[in-house]
Amino acid sequence: MGLADRGPQGPNVAILGATGAVGRQMMQCLQERHFPLGELRLLASARSAGQQMCWNGRMITIQEATPESFEGIDLVLGAAENDVAERLLPHAVKAGAVVVDNSSAYRLDPEVPLVVPEVNPEDVAWNTGIIANPNCSTIIALVCLAPLDRAAGLNRVVCSTYQAASGAGMPGIEQLETENAAIVEGRKVPAPRVFPYQLAYNLIPQIGGFDAAGYTSEEMKMQNEGRKILHNDGLAVNCTCVRVPVARSHSESITVELDSPLTPDEARVVLAAAPGVRVVDDPSCREYPMPLDTSEQDLVYVGRIREDISAPEGTNGLTFWCCGDQIRKGAATNAVQIAELLL
Ligand SMILES: NC(=O)c1ccc[n+]([C@@H]2O[C@H](COP(=O)([O-])OP(=O)(O)OC[C@H]3O[C@@H](n4cnc5c(N)ncnc54)[C@H](OP(=O)(O)O)[C@@H]3O)[C@@H](O)[C@H]2O)c1
Repeated sequence: MGLADRGPQGPNVAILGATGAVGRQMMQCLQERHFPLGELRLLASARSAGQQMCWNGRMITIQEATPESFEGIDLVLGAAENDVAERLLPHAVKAGAVVVDNSSAYRLDPEVPLVVPEVNPEDVAWNTGIIANPNCSTIIALVCLAPLDRAAGLNRVVCSTYQAASGAGMPGIEQLETENAAIVEGRKVPAPRVFPYQLAYNLIPQIGGFDAAGYTSEEMKMQNEGRKILHNDGLAVNCTCVRVPVARSHSESITVELDSPLTPDEARVVLAAAPGVRVVDDPSCREYPMPLDTSEQDLVYVGRIREDISAPEGTNGLTFWCCGDQIRKGAATNAVQIAELLL
């Protein structure tokens, strides 16, 4: 399903979860990218219904999301949790809309394409109403991994992520800000409400629940979603996900094994030519990606590119570091880019 010929001004668009971190960013991305649209409908929970949000110079009243909310809507951008997505998005499809969903509810459904526009835009074509946006860390990694895969064949990935508080949405940002304020003001740090422990001045090596092998659900997304996006069921992935007291932008340390040799200089050339990537890699001038520099923009920055000196002979190991704004490229921008492919 596509969006061509859906109204003279463009499709009517609804954002499910418009008041959240991703939903707000989607509103901004639609405006920045001049996405052609007729109506913009803002949907959230009953808690937000009746409040107003400003978009493109007009005030829009937020509506409570119900199964009937999608009447007359052509495109739904989903920015709510899995349970809300599962309960409401099938009604959107039934009403004739195409859905681009940010939750993980549909990502591994064989009927649902999982798309990073820089990597597998062609998969949009076989959607039957829902297209899934991948996990934020997975998108950021794959924008760098896919060009290396095309150049030299990717067969193994070892990754550690350093994930910002805003990856847990508005409540995650609030917890970190509340803790920071309490510490600065010399007050007792309140009990954590979102993360399992205090995040300020801390690192938490758990995002999601653990499986029997000791991996978290967030860690397995890198393997399972990476395989689906790259069409490589045999890709070996070992991921450790860590929550860090950074407001915005996820960072990742990645080591890869490649089929063919690729020197760090060759990798820099490949990555510099890749869509969505900026190489920032001059250690002699202390130039490397950092989350403060990659926030509020859409490129994934990559640097610290070097040979994996521990790689066994013949495994062509490379190591690098990348950072990207996970609310933008890891969620909202990626979703709007997918919608642009549908136009
Ligand atoms: N944050 C990230 O970096 C990121 C990155 C990639 C993917 N995602 C995914 O994107 C989705 C949204 O995440 P977020 O970070 O934006 O979360 P968030 O800030 O907590 O926002 C959640 C949104 O869902 C709405 N909502 C809650 N219950 C609802 C209900 N019963 N009916 C309708 N809407 C309801 C909320 O509305 P109210 O304000 O009315 O409660 C709010 O608009 C999640 O699936 C998340 O996993 C997030």
